[in-house]
Amino acid sequence: ATERTFSIIKPDATRRNLTGAINAVIENSGLRIVAQKRLQLTRAQAEGFYAVHRERGFFGELVEFMISGPVVVQVLEGDNAVLAYRDIMGATNPANAAEGTIRKLFAESIEANSAHGSDSLENAAIEIAYFFAQTEIVG
Ligand code: CMP
Repeated sequence: ATERTFSIIKPDATRRNLTGAINAVIENSGLRIVAQKRLQLTRAQAEGFYAVHRERGFFGELVEFMISGPVVVQVLEGDNAVLAYRDIMGATNPANAAEGTIRKLFAESIEANSAHGSDSLENAAIEIAYFFAQTEIVG
């Protein structure tokens, strides 16, 4: 079924001018970028977005990293988009990511892993609503 998922191109990737390269991987996979904007996240925005990880040891570092430079937030649309984008991103740790995936191609570390994608359809809707108004999504 056609789904929408939420994506973030992270600061390690925007810093290295990789927005277009990552978008090419996304579009070559058949997913469509139906909303996109470049933002400097505030600390409050980053903490709120990653609230589920608040108790994790890496939470503080993760927030610092996510506000260390611009991000590009996106809505991706396509068949089975949530799982499709997770496949295209590859494993969280780039050391475990498959050939040709965004994280294998571009990620620097488990933290600076170039891309975020929603882990379920339910979370996709929550994450999309966190950053986008319905009027900003043009399918
Ligand atoms: P993301 O898909 O954005 O969801 C949570 C993020 O936390 C993850 O990608 C990584 O960037 C980061 N992360 C996950 N595990 C670790 C870890 N062990 N150490 C540091 N960062 C991590």
